[in-house]
Amino acid sequence: MRNSRFPPLSKSWEDVESEMKAAHRDDMPWCDARNLKPAYFAGEDLLAVANNAYNMYLAENAIFSRTAYPSLGQYENDVVDMMLALLSAPEGAAGSVSGGGTESIIMSVKTAREWARENRPTAGTPEIIVPHTAHPAFDKAGHMLGLKVVRMAKSPGWRADVAAMAAAVGDNTIMIMGSAPPYPYGETDPIEDIAAIARAHGLWMHVDGCIGGCILPFMRRLGEPVPEFDFAVPGVMSMSVDLHKFGYANKGISLVLLHDKALEAHQHTSFGDWPAGVYSTANITGSRSGGPLASAWAVMNYLGEEGYLRIFSAQRDIKRRLMAGVEEIDGLEIIARPHALHFYFTARDFDIFAVETGMAAKGWSATRAEQPDSIMLWVNMSHQEEVENYLRDLRAVVADVRAGRIEAATDSVVYVT
Ligand SMILES: Cc1ncc(COP(=O)(O)O)c(C=O)c1O
Repeated sequence: MRNSRFPPLSKSWEDVESEMKAAHRDDMPWCDARNLKPAYFAGEDLLAVANNAYNMYLAENAIFSRTAYPSLGQYENDVVDMMLALLSAPEGAAGSVSGGGTESIIMSVKTAREWARENRPTAGTPEIIVPHTAHPAFDKAGHMLGLKVVRMAKSPGWRADVAAMAAAVGDNTIMIMGSAPPYPYGETDPIEDIAAIARAHGLWMHVDGCIGGCILPFMRRLGEPVPEFDFAVPGVMSMSVDLHKFGYANKGISLVLLHDKALEAHQHTSFGDWPAGVYSTANITGSRSGGPLASAWAVMNYLGEEGYLRIFSAQRDIKRRLMAGVEEIDGLEIIARPHALHFYFTARDFDIFAVETGMAAKGWSATRAEQPDSIMLWVNMSHQEEVENYLRDLRAVVADVRAGRIEAATDSVVYVT
């Protein structure tokens, strides 16, 4: 229902609050145990830390973190340095905070474009080569920055098509990238092979670690077979890393990391001829709350490496139990070798969307995906006690689908906001 009328009279907070509670009632609880859509819940204690820190800095404007609020400036230095160290960055690397993965990607592409104007000038429209699975934020960046995005058509073996990417390099190519891991399929791209193409042609190499930047270093320490993906790979010039995903900060914080501080000159926008003074920012937004940065700093200090290992280990075990159970069901098949905490499964000889419909009727909320038609499960700590219940219902629903007792409610797959 639309109600765009500006209220002519004031109301009490109690009235406003009760209206909001009523409106909120029909929303899906974001970390309900039966919600297997993307959510980042790793314990009530962690949530309280993130929220308390967020509330402490909610009203501070982080655009003044270098002047009025030095504590925020220090938090920014600290979270950047912590992540650079975790991601094998060399001496002299740098980074800055942005409002989310999309903004980090747009700024990485902008930095690459400015760098290329000096280091790899093109006669035509500059091009960036991305795998089939790259996040649409790269297309958004291309659109906003006047670049052509050359997206590969396939993901052989569920990873980037390295041969096709190499073949796509031309005189106008300035940048190439891979994801660690991408949202689709969840398996990390062959970053070393993509970086080799970048080195051979003098291109900017970006790694989209929005999902994996925080989680993969710890998964590796837990013994998971994570391929090389970070600044340890020669040629990687920038990374996007979301702290509001597996860093467990509140929404609104990601990092743009650069392998050399000198590259920041290509990232910053500075404007001097303004009556209010010099205006210089690293990213797109101007005013923004200090809350997300404060929550990231608090959570990273609260958990430490020990805490991240503990929560990733527990969630990795939930994912393993779910994947093993899915694989035991005749006709279901896991896609790829997922490195983070989300995975996809498809059906060999029946309609997987009918399975999704049947599971939804039993109260399980999951995400549909395509190429191939599949269901994505995104694991978090709230699922710990639900694995057996989910698998029991899945077995029953698959039997019903095979027997023709359930059909897909719709065949659409939509990913919009
Ligand atoms: C691999 C990857 N990159 C980038 C993004 C964009 O992040 P955001 O939604 O924070 O803008 C996402 C979001 O899911 C993602 O999965």
